[in-house]
Amino acid sequence: MPATRDVVVLVGSLRKASWTRRIAVALSRLAPPALRLEIVEIGELPLYNQDFDDEKRVPAQWQAFRDRVARADAVIFATPEYNRSVPGVLKNAIDVGSRPSRAGALNNKPAAVVSVSPGALAAFGANQHLRQSLVFLNMPTLQQPEVYLGAVNQLVDADGNIIKEETKTFLASFLESFAAWIEKVR
Ligand code: FNR
Repeated sequence: MPATRDVVVLVGSLRKASWTRRIAVALSRLAPPALRLEIVEIGELPLYNQDFDDEKRVPAQWQAFRDRVARADAVIFATPEYNRSVPGVLKNAIDVGSRPSRAGALNNKPAAVVSVSPGALAAFGANQHLRQSLVFLNMPTLQQPEVYLGAVNQLVDADGNIIKEETKTFLASFLESFAAWIEKVR
C-alpha cells in the first residue's frame, strides 16, 4: 500500500466565485486515500523578475511557495483560459517555481492538467499551452485521461459539489489514474 501522496493544486483564477477553484475544491473532496490535495495560493506572488534571483534577494512569498512545492509529491494545475492561453497569474507561479534552472521546485514533479471553462471549448488552448511549459519544466505529465471541462457552470455548484454523476465518476477516475501515475514515475 503506497503512502498518501501530497499533491499541490495551483488554481489559475483569483476571483471569489471562480469555477476553476470550485473544481479544485471538488477534486480535493473526490481524492482517493492515496492522494491528499491542497490548494496553494498564488495570488500574492510578486511578478517574476530575474534580478531577484540573480541578486539573491528572493521575495519571502516566492521562497514560501518554492518551499511548499518542493515538499510536495506532485502538482495539479487547474486552469481557466484567458485569451486562448494560460492566465498570467498561473504563468507567473510557474515562472517562480521554475527557478533556479533545472533545480526549481517544480522540476521533475509528476503533474496533471485540468482545464475549465463555461464555454464549449473547455479551455483547450490553455491546457495545451500549459503542457508545452511542463515539457520544458521536465514535469512528467499525465497524458490520459485528459481533463477538459466545458460548460462548467452546469457541472459544479457554488460549494464545489459536482452536480452531474458522470462528471463525478470521471473526475474520480482521473484522480485514480493520477495516483497510479505518481507511483509509476517517482
Ligand atoms: C476569458 N474567458 C475565456 N474563456 C474561454 O473559454 N477562452 C478564452 O480565451 C477566454 N478568454 C478570457 C479572457 C479574460 C481576460 C477573461 C476575464 C475571461 C472567459 C472565462 O472562461 C470565464 O471568465 C471563466 O469564468 C474564468 O474562469 P474562473 O474565474 O471562473 O475560474
